[in-house]
Amino acid sequence: MRSLAGTLAAPFPYFGGKALACETVWGELGDPVNYVEPFAGSAAMLLGRPNPGKVETINDADGFVANFWRAVSYDPDAVTHHADWPCSEADLEARHAWLVNRSERLRWQLEDPDFYDAKVAGWWVWGACNWIGSGWCAGEGPHLTNGARLFDSRQLPHLGNAGRGINRQLPHLSAGQGEHPRSAYIREWMMKLAERLRDVRVTCGDWKRVVKDSVTTRHGLTGVFLDPPYTLGKMDYAAGGVGGELANAVREWCKQNGENDLLRIVLCGHEHEHDELLQHGWHLRTWTARKGYAVTDEAVANSASETLWCSPHCVGRADTAQAELFAA
Ligand SMILES: C[S@@+](CC[C@H](N)C(=O)[O-])C[C@H]1O[C@@H](n2cnc3c(N)ncnc32)[C@H](O)[C@@H]1O
Repeated sequence: MRSLAGTLAAPFPYFGGKALACETVWGELGDPVNYVEPFAGSAAMLLGRPNPGKVETINDADGFVANFWRAVSYDPDAVTHHADWPCSEADLEARHAWLVNRSERLRWQLEDPDFYDAKVAGWWVWGACNWIGSGWCAGEGPHLTNGARLFDSRQLPHLGNAGRGINRQLPHLSAGQGEHPRSAYIREWMMKLAERLRDVRVTCGDWKRVVKDSVTTRHGLTGVFLDPPYTLGKMDYAAGGVGGELANAVREWCKQNGENDLLRIVLCGHEHEHDELLQHGWHLRTWTARKGYAVTDEAVANSASETLWCSPHCVGRADTAQAELFAA
């Protein structure tokens, strides 16, 4: 239930999760009254915040991701009910098809700020924990073949206990009468997430919608954590894109807004990806990602070159300078 850093964690594995960067990032953002996370994914940065803020918004273009966070915040019991299911390859395949066939409708339904679907959320998180590798609900797979099952291309469900999401080893919990310990474990985790997300606004759409003044500086001093898909690397998120143009557009926005003294911005990327910002008063921080499922030399090298670009009004540099002063 708690990540390595000791903070509340998402109950599913997520490629590019930033749990291990939390300490560095919050050291830079400080404690702003408003916080915006336009590429939320597993929401590691929000969950790793030392103290919840007054106004907080998380967003992701992936409807399944946004729906999960909204559903768990509004109805953790219902999400638990649908997520609590044993691992089965046949169910994984059937539910994957059922979910993907609803993905488009889900995206426009989420335009309604009160909409969520607990069954979609529960099945999605269950599958995310049982699926091996990337591609869960990414719009590829047997469901596109009009019933002609492609046995050779199917993903195998995750049967071992390798520390993934809600199938991790169960801690001892006092289950309710007649309640399976796994159910109690999942329920408690979802309840804790709901508690943390109670006042968090969850939106689904393009990142640009949540970096407008109406979402950021109109609420006062704002921390913005930007973690777009990187230019390097091979992960193609369901919502779209390996970095490229998207990462470039995000850097451009950073360049144009870094001087605003109501904004503290942290942008993630691989070494040198956004170094152009250094000419505009930004500074660097590095951190090391978990190698996770990185099997190629390139992926391992990428996990070691994780970089954060911090805008001129971030507070970490001052703290570090002060610490160095004391150490001297
Ligand atoms: C590197 S991941 C974010 C990981 C996250 N920081 C975490 O700790 O789990 C990038 C995320 O951006 C989302 N995404 C891709 N294109 C997007 C867009 N145009 N607008 C908003 N989100 C987008 C993907 O669905 C994915 O969840």
